[in-house]
Amino acid sequence: MEVSVTFLVAIILSVSLIDQSAQLEFSQFQALLRLQQLLNSPPPLNSFFNTSDLCSIEPSQTFTLACYGDNLTQLHINGQTGGFPLPRGFSTRAFFSTITAFSSLKVLSVVSLGLQGPLPAVLGNLSSLEILNASSNRFIGEIPKEMSSLKGLQSLILDDNAFSGQVPAWFGSLPAVAVLSLKNNSLSGPLPRSFTAMRNLRVLALSGNNLSGEIPNLHRLHNLQVIDLEGNHFGPRLPSMPTRLVTLVLRKNKFGLGLPSELASYYQLKKLDVSMNGFVGPFLPFMLTLPSIQYLDISGNRFTGLLMSNMSCNPELTFVNLSSNLLLGTLPDCLLSDQTWKVALYADNCLSGEVREQHPSSFCHKEALAVPLLPAKKKHDISAHKTRLALGVLGGILGGIATSALVLIAVRKINARQKVKSPPARLLTENASTLCNVKLLSDARYISQTMKMGATIPTYRTFALEELKNATNNFDSSSLISEGSNYQIYRAKLADGIVLAIRRLEMRKKRTPQSYMPDIEQISKLRHGHLSSAIGHCFECYPDDSTVSRIYLIFEFTTNGTLRDHISGKGILTKKLTWVQRIVSALGVVKGIQFLHTGTVPGVFSNDLKITDVLLDHSLQVKINKYNLPLLADDRKVSSRVSLPRTERSPHSRVKYKGGDDVYDIGVILLEIIVGRPIMYQNEVTLLKDLLQVCLVTDEVARRSIADPAVQKDCSDESLRTMMQICLRCISPDETDRPSVEDVLWNLQFAIQVQESSKEEPSENETETAIEENFVNVPF
Ligand SMILES: *[C@@H]1O[C@H](CO)[C@@H](O)[C@H](O)[C@H]1NC(C)=O
Ligand SMILES: *[C@@H]1O[C@H](CO)[C@@H](O)[C@H](O)[C@H]1NC(C)=O
Ligand SMILES: *[C@@H]1O[C@H](CO)[C@@H](O)[C@H](O)[C@H]1NC(C)=O
Ligand SMILES: *[C@@H]1O[C@H](CO)[C@@H](O)[C@H](O)[C@H]1NC(C)=O
Ligand SMILES: *[C@@H]1O[C@H](CO)[C@@H](O)[C@H](O)[C@H]1NC(C)=O
Ligand SMILES: *[C@@H]1O[C@H](CO)[C@@H](O)[C@H](O)[C@H]1NC(C)=O
Ligand SMILES: *[C@@H]1O[C@H](CO)[C@@H](O)[C@H](O)[C@H]1NC(C)=O
Ligand SMILES: *[C@@H]1O[C@H](CO)[C@@H](O)[C@H](O)[C@H]1NC(C)=O
Repeated sequence: MEVSVTFLVAIILSVSLIDQSAQLEFSQFQALLRLQQLLNSPPPLNSFFNTSDLCSIEPSQTFTLACYGDNLTQLHINGQTGGFPLPRGFSTRAFFSTITAFSSLKVLSVVSLGLQGPLPAVLGNLSSLEILNASSNRFIGEIPKEMSSLKGLQSLILDDNAFSGQVPAWFGSLPAVAVLSLKNNSLSGPLPRSFTAMRNLRVLALSGNNLSGEIPNLHRLHNLQVIDLEGNHFGPRLPSMPTRLVTLVLRKNKFGLGLPSELASYYQLKKLDVSMNGFVGPFLPFMLTLPSIQYLDISGNRFTGLLMSNMSCNPELTFVNLSSNLLLGTLPDCLLSDQTWKVALYADNCLSGEVREQHPSSFCHKEALAVPLLPAKKKHDISAHKTRLALGVLGGILGGIATSALVLIAVRKINARQKVKSPPARLLTENASTLCNVKLLSDARYISQTMKMGATIPTYRTFALEELKNATNNFDSSSLISEGSNYQIYRAKLADGIVLAIRRLEMRKKRTPQSYMPDIEQISKLRHGHLSSAIGHCFECYPDDSTVSRIYLIFEFTTNGTLRDHISGKGILTKKLTWVQRIVSALGVVKGIQFLHTGTVPGVFSNDLKITDVLLDHSLQVKINKYNLPLLADDRKVSSRVSLPRTERSPHSRVKYKGGDDVYDIGVILLEIIVGRPIMYQNEVTLLKDLLQVCLVTDEVARRSIADPAVQKDCSDESLRTMMQICLRCISPDETDRPSVEDVLWNLQFAIQVQESSKEEPSENETETAIEENFVNVPF
């Protein structure tokens, strides 16, 4: 036989485990001889003839056995790619059937043997199997479901084959799997939800397949260190991922939204490759300074923002590719190093200074705007047509602005009169036990997982009822702030002086505290700089059967008025927000919404947000104060003033992005921010929308005339136009036309950016800090 057969080494056995004197059990001995026959006795297996003790065969380049007692525990047969000539008529099924004789086999490696056809189902009989490496063969078809019985399987490596079908859902039922590598196959469809159960998963390598769709939440896979999804069609939304990742490769997929701010907490991340996707949004400077980062590739996306020469980098960083984005500013000095072992690539951006292969900055501005604006060609025509019609009546409308302003003022007055003061507090009877069920404290594990967002927010914890009583003077009516049909909200001052808001919920159904824990857990995650964050909770239980009589939810308390107060300069607030402060506030709202959608799992959508639900704290940081969660719903359906049209969608259009109605609400808030007067009724939105549409295409004078007089001098035309454009897109009647939250975020940042560049010398300090906050730190 030809000696051209070459083999690779694979020595994994631990020599100490081999009992040299032991004889292999007879049936296993026979099975080995049969394997040798099936493979047509290649030279590496000829040593079989020289000994009766197969377990003592020296591990060779190609062939390694390991035994424990009289059982074979490891079998490695590895040929070189394509170089192992299988005999004519070789049967892959017979080969694997023979292997099932090794009932104690723990490690099976059959690499580069040219094995063909489907992976035989009898593999499922190797009940002791822990590691299977069948890479570089020609397997086709689905991964057999019989393998789901391999409960001890720790590593499954099937790279470089032609497996097809979906990634099986039963992977989730294999508790021990730590390495799952299916690279370079033809698998398609989404990743099954069951992946969220693979608690021991350390390596997930699925690159080079045809997988698509959303990735299930991987946040709880605390052991996961390597994710490699390169070259699939996953997206557009990034999954939630665990923070101990070391390698994250998402290259060449269809991810399209912004990068999550949580990345900042990935302290072990060495390699981050998100290149060749459709990411939009600001470049996050912290990516250069992640504590462990060595390799960063964000090329081929639409990242925007301003680089600065004084940005810092982790010294360990040896590869950076920023090419083909929409970055402005100057390249950070730390990337200009001429050490040869460092690579920094940045072509095809709009950087200034001594750097080559850059576009003019107008290119990035324009390209960036081109992303979100009017995606469908047809709409240009429609809006142009509308414009022409509208221009005819423009004179009339502009004349009418003064009139409509008068109408609006009248409307506001009427409305103010209609608003009823909070009804007086009810007398509350106490018929429940005073202390929460002690057992609940053991449920602290639910809470320990809350995000470490916003260092200034106190740690989430359980409160004792006594503590809450002391803080509210035993729920005295003087502490009552507001109430609904099934709740009261109290202002509470803790012993340490911290002021909080307590929401007391009356529970009508008799349920155990445990049954509420999923709700509580989700509320406990509402912690973000732009939310009235959750601080803790407390259960009050009936003493007889320990079911819950009341739940107390404790939130941050913000006193500095609503966003509307600050826009229309109401009451004690004499100073209205400047133009930049307004955009920064809007940014805060959008970031809060973005967190509600993506920062918690499941996301919190359809929050029915009004400008009066947006509060400001003393540093004028906005805090959203309304969440669409079951426990926080008001039973009594308030017939609200502005009842906004929800989605008007044709039955054929697909919903691409959940959360469009929140985007609509953002749009209405933007509208009020621009025009600077309260918007109470739906028909005002419609009226202003038409007006905005007209002004947008007319001229600067028209645009300024519609803006709040308080900011008319302040704002640059380009910035105003950007704000009007994004506002109009948000309040589009068709949800599918509305932008994504990331899109809105980006446009607001752009509006600040152009506002800033329009000013040669920013006169106000305030303005400067606002800009810095958004471009240098990118706060979360
Ligand atoms: C097996 O024995 C034959 C002669 O009996 C010898 O030529 C060959 O080198 C031996 N092979 C090994 C691997 O020991
Ligand atoms: C070998 O395997 C058999 C069957 O799996 C088992 O009963 C026996 O205990 C094993 N021998 C050793 C030494 O582990
Ligand atoms: C595998 O196990 C199944 C059921 O346990 C059995 O019917 C089948 O014969 C086994 N196959 C082999 C090749 O041992
Ligand atoms: C599978 O086996 C081959 C040959 O021994 C080896 O090169 C490869 O690294 C193994 N794959 C994994 C993921 O261990
Ligand atoms: C993918 O697998 C095929 C067949 O095994 C092989 O020919 C090809 O080189 C592999 N591609 C990559 C990128 O590894
Ligand atoms: C990839 O999957 C899609 C469906 O998910 C299918 O239409 C397409 O043909 C697949 N492409 C390849 C190369 O298999
Ligand atoms: C850097 O990114 C650009 C754009 O995607 C790409 O063309 C280039 O090959 C990349 N360079 C390296 C070394 O990866
Ligand atoms: C970086 O430079 C900008 C102006 O170019 C300055 O405002 C900022 O404070 C500097 N940041 C640091 C960390 O030095």
